[in-house]
Amino acid sequence: MSSASLQPFNSFGVNAHCKNLIKIYSEQDIYDALLTYEAPYNVIGGGSNILLAGDLESTVLVNQIKGIQVVDEDDNHVLLTVGGGENWHNLVLWSISHNLSGLQNLSLIPGSVGAAPIQNIGAYGVEQSQCFHSLRAISLSTGLTKVYYKEDCQFGYRDSVFKKEDAGKYIITHVTYILSKKVEINVSYGAIQAELKNRNIEDPTLKQISDVICDIRVSKLPDPLLIGNAGSFFKNPIITEQAYEDLLLKYPDIVAYPANDKMKLSAGWLIDRAGWKGHSQNGAAVYKNHALVLINDGTDNGGDIWQLAMDIQADVLSKFGVEIVPEVNVWGRP
Ligand code: EPU
Repeated sequence: MSSASLQPFNSFGVNAHCKNLIKIYSEQDIYDALLTYEAPYNVIGGGSNILLAGDLESTVLVNQIKGIQVVDEDDNHVLLTVGGGENWHNLVLWSISHNLSGLQNLSLIPGSVGAAPIQNIGAYGVEQSQCFHSLRAISLSTGLTKVYYKEDCQFGYRDSVFKKEDAGKYIITHVTYILSKKVEINVSYGAIQAELKNRNIEDPTLKQISDVICDIRVSKLPDPLLIGNAGSFFKNPIITEQAYEDLLLKYPDIVAYPANDKMKLSAGWLIDRAGWKGHSQNGAAVYKNHALVLINDGTDNGGDIWQLAMDIQADVLSKFGVEIVPEVNVWGRP
């Protein structure tokens, strides 16, 4: 049944198949695909936040809708509508070269613009929701277009309505961001501050911030073009202050940050402390420089990476009593 290989379309570089693979360049292509091929459908953007744990009995739509367009502006802001198939980092570079603030901390995040709101990508103290204005999406069941404004999206930490009740129901064709013409920066994250100081930069430009972040990311995270991976595999778990106090007694060096009235634990620290960093089994491994990142260490089978993830999850639960859940979308689960 399954015929098209998804190997070039997922950043883990594993080999899974789907029934049909259709590249989408326009909204018309979506209507045509929905009329030609039967449900179910899966949508792939950059393929950098999925683990294909097995074959898919679906038609996969690869979003390649391009374009960055200024649709409105006033003295202080620019409204930018971007094709869902644009590369995220290209958008960040475009905004910096046009002196527009807002996205610079999100430099070098792999993936596409259409995928960014789904998991509300974030890094170095900023989430895409802070610049988000609206998006256009087409229903995979009715073919009708729907506009989502910020309040419709239920953005949270690595979360949105597209991971909850609207999961898998839409293809996001365009995203509109509101960026500032004034230089507005957020360099509160410790690692950025330290690196700016190291470079003797007191009043950084957008480009300098972006460069620092790119360098930090390159030093910690593997390049998916060289080593198959999907960035952080798990979310940082959020636990009660009481549960945190209990853990702190046992593990005084545990890494955690306040998150509203709760505490966000570093999943990287938990996995590292449980002894998994650098561990490799059946062609799947925990990256040596960052325990939150699982890598393809020579397997074609995403099920091997899924098995490693499950082994880590069970071990962290038994050692710390904390459940860590995947941040990546797992499809074709065996
Ligand atoms: N740590 C360890 N061992 C490790 C890795 C991390 O002990 O192997 C501890 C260290 O104390 C480190 C701390 O964890 O200082 C935090 O690490 P890092 O700054 O790399 O942040 P993170 O919480 O692990 C999150 C995001 C990243 C994002 C960074 C920077 C999630 C799931 N991940 O990682 O996002 O780049 O913060 O803001 O929230 C991604 O989503 O794919 C991603 C890479």
